[in-house]
Amino acid sequence: MEKIYQYIKEHATAPSKALAWVEKQTHIRTNHARMLSGSVQGQIMRMLAQTSRASRVLELGTFTGYSAICLASALPEGGHLDTLEINDELEDLILEGFERAGLDDKISLHIGDCKETLRKLRAEMGLEDGKEADPAMMYDLVYLDANKREYCEYYELIFDMVRPGGLILADNVLWDGKVCMDPLPQDKQTLEIVRFNDMVTKDRRVESVILPLRDGLNIIRKKA
Ligand SMILES: C[S@@+](CC[C@H](N)C(=O)[O-])C[C@H]1O[C@@H](n2cnc3c(N)ncnc32)[C@H](O)[C@@H]1O
Repeated sequence: MEKIYQYIKEHATAPSKALAWVEKQTHIRTNHARMLSGSVQGQIMRMLAQTSRASRVLELGTFTGYSAICLASALPEGGHLDTLEINDELEDLILEGFERAGLDDKISLHIGDCKETLRKLRAEMGLEDGKEADPAMMYDLVYLDANKREYCEYYELIFDMVRPGGLILADNVLWDGKVCMDPLPQDKQTLEIVRFNDMVTKDRRVESVILPLRDGLNIIRKKA
């Protein structure tokens, strides 16, 4: 499997200089480089953003900014990405990466717990009073990649922020294969991801498919 993944990596468009810098700095400055989405997934997400003509994008879980750069590099003139991260120690690294990629004017980094930030963004969209969102402020694409124990809550919070026909991408939905183990591991992350995948499958407002890419990417489209 490793060999095939290496082959796929070598035959995808090479990452930009800025992405290579972010990847290197992530290895040098953090202990969690395995959290990086990496060049193959990054390129797929970039293409999904590009082919769906996403102009407003929301990301939960910035880490060092790799996926944010991939997504923002697909944005058209005037497009914007909001990315949410709880770890303020990553802020300098993230912002330098955005600047190196020439995307700092297209990305807003929101440091803090993403559920709190989402509530603020919802209020700005006029959603907190039970009203419908301003269509001009709705997101075309949302990428879920923060705390795996909170995926269902994220889904509930972001659902009406996404425009009809928009995409929701959720990462790590195979959780190292634990989601289909028998017996099912009883840790909170596995149980929540299983609950999330089941909830999405049963949700008639969407269509979805899990791509067996890295740790599993659930591609969810909100029906128009
Ligand atoms: C898997 S990493 C994101 C990887 C990144 N999207 C990429 O592809 O390069 C998950 C990130 O979510 C952040 N996170 C976890 N819980 C969070 C929360 N409640 N609010 C905001 N960010 C959170 C973590 O600090 C971590 O940086």
